[in-house]
Amino acid sequence: MKKYILDDFEAIETRTSRRNYASQRIDTDLIEHFNERIIDYNHDSGLTISFLEDGSKAFNGITKSYGMFKGVRSLIVLKGPISDVYLKEKCGYFGELLVLEATKLGLGTCWVAGTFNKKDPMFKCRDDEQLICVIPIGYTESEATIGEKFIRKLSHRKSKTLDQFYKILETNQAIPDWFIAGIKAVMLAPSAINSQPVFFEVEGDKITIHTADKKSTDLIDLGIAKLHFELIAKGSFPLGNGAIFHKDHSDNTFSNAL
Ligand SMILES: Cc1cc2nc3c(=O)[nH]c(=O)nc-3n(C[C@H](O)[C@H](O)[C@H](O)COP(=O)(O)O)c2cc1C
Repeated sequence: MKKYILDDFEAIETRTSRRNYASQRIDTDLIEHFNERIIDYNHDSGLTISFLEDGSKAFNGITKSYGMFKGVRSLIVLKGPISDVYLKEKCGYFGELLVLEATKLGLGTCWVAGTFNKKDPMFKCRDDEQLICVIPIGYTESEATIGEKFIRKLSHRKSKTLDQFYKILETNQAIPDWFIAGIKAVMLAPSAINSQPVFFEVEGDKITIHTADKKSTDLIDLGIAKLHFELIAKGSFPLGNGAIFHKDHSDNTFSNAL
């Protein structure tokens, strides 16, 4: 049994992208724990996620990560079959499950699609596979360093407001608390350059989640947003852009969270 210092809500609330790491090996039992999770998630999703104990050479040094990262060592490598039309969305969903697990255990993480050396041979995939993203994972200072705050400003677009996340298609429609709580969880989700490309539509009882799918990372962000919404609004989405939310009406425990 792992020692969690946060629950799911606290992890969603407190997670931020961390870019300065202690360059130290993660404890063996934590590595085993993540490897066990990864085996389960690969089984459930058909992805081929792996844990790389030392991926430092793809990050450290000015030319590799444009100086944005320090002390990176372990990585979660997100990849899967090119033939899977939901590949990016699944990487978003299962990758974020691992990010929140790491946050609950007190470890820092950062989604990375661009600022690392993707060409390093350690990321070589089979011909039928594609590398989607990596996630550095490791020990960090409890507070963001000045350097991290500076990089965050550069790589973080202004956040959208709550109202910009959803459209109500019927007039005079009441919006349940659990829906707003779910949207607040999506507002806190990581997204490439904080672009927050996901939005919801509400029509009667029907809630759908969408992205314009313009940027190469939009479908990854869709998978991440689906997970945050599901955890707080309690329910599930099928795969796909425009998917309808299925509310689990047997459990409203988290309706007022966040
Ligand atoms: C799919 C995806 C790709 C990202 N790629 C990078 C990247 O290449 N380099 C980087 O420094 N941050 C990257 N980020 C982190 C975002 O910049 C960060 O999530 C966003 O600014 C929101 O900040 P927060 O995670 O601290 O809430 C990425 C995030 C996501 C979800």
